[in-house]
Amino acid sequence: MALNRRQFIQASAATAAATTLGACSGESVSIDNSLPVGPYNAKSTAEEVTEGIDLTGKTALVTGCTSGIGFETMRVLALRGAHVFGTGRTLEKAEEACAQVTGSTTPLALELSDFDSCVACAQAVAAQGSSLDMLIANAGIGTFSEFELVGGIEKIFVVNYLGHVILTMNLLPLVQNADRGRIVHVGSRMGYRTAPDEGIDFGNLRGEGEFDPYQAYGRSKLANALFSLKLSRMLDPEDTTSNVIHPGFVKTDIGRNATGIMGFLYNNAATLIQKNPAEGAATQVYVATNPLLQGVSGAYFEDCNPVKVNIPNHVFDSALADRLWDETLVMVGGYLPGTAPA
Ligand SMILES: NC(=O)c1ccc[n+]([C@@H]2O[C@H](COP(=O)([O-])OP(=O)(O)OC[C@H]3O[C@@H](n4cnc5c(N)ncnc54)[C@H](OP(=O)(O)O)[C@@H]3O)[C@@H](O)[C@H]2O)c1
Repeated sequence: MALNRRQFIQASAATAAATTLGACSGESVSIDNSLPVGPYNAKSTAEEVTEGIDLTGKTALVTGCTSGIGFETMRVLALRGAHVFGTGRTLEKAEEACAQVTGSTTPLALELSDFDSCVACAQAVAAQGSSLDMLIANAGIGTFSEFELVGGIEKIFVVNYLGHVILTMNLLPLVQNADRGRIVHVGSRMGYRTAPDEGIDFGNLRGEGEFDPYQAYGRSKLANALFSLKLSRMLDPEDTTSNVIHPGFVKTDIGRNATGIMGFLYNNAATLIQKNPAEGAATQVYVATNPLLQGVSGAYFEDCNPVKVNIPNHVFDSALADRLWDETLVMVGGYLPGTAPA
């Protein structure tokens, strides 16, 4: 198959990304032994990490429950007794997913690129109860997108980051009402692998420069990590925690838009090194539920353990988190509740 220059670059990047994602944590991260380390690893499943944990009486919200890691997260939290709000881009899709799960669930509509929908989703949760024990910001779109602006801002950044900021800040009072509420942000190791060198290229969020979908995805996932860090500094970790995770390289529908050689590499060749969704959901379910992690906030997890990143990265860059927060307020401040911490 003959490739043009753009396809060649994209295919090379896809191969590199797949290799990067699939590589064992090895040299790029190491377990952070200053934080509690559990008995689980890359092969652990969401069911295994919740064995013996009774979530009866707890509530959780999982964004993107219709597919992949989000569906498995909802399934296992409900299996352990939690009442789970599962969001889909339409109510019908969420209903369909919830209907496949044993346990107590409530389907909700959430379209992350529609900021009114993010506020409405939070209001729908608030209408049903006064507290939320676990918020798992899981939904996302991958790297296989063409350049698109939503309301003048690059779409991957809008969906993966800005929409979740609005949802999270509108739900924050409920999480703070819970007994030791937990917020889990689903990031990616692409946040330190493919984000721009400066981390967030603030001068290119509105399509000012060249669009590289791998950088755009990495930037959005780094933004998830920096938002988690910022929140962890706003909140008392004894009351509410905020952590970010990388689920691993997981066989899901995230490569659904990949076509041609990229589609082949991602959806076929890469499956040899991918986790299955049961393994992929384990880290976020572990961080949302394990008693060992009470009071642990502002940490980054891979393969069910807190890790340090040993290559140049911005995952723990507080100054960048502050700058991102300031820019975020300019972009979506009007959608955040007046009570949002400064
Ligand atoms: N799979 C991996 O290897 C991998 C690696 C690192 C990080 N992650 C992260 O893991 C998370 C889950 O991804 P996945 O692999 O499970 O992918 P997936 O199977 O494609 O699931 C993504 C979920 O997000 C929802 N979603 C997409 N666009 C949305 C929007 N605009 N508004 C609201 N919801 C939207 C999807 O809904 P629809 O079904 O309606 O589109 C779906 O429920 C993502 O944040 C992803 O970045 C995945």
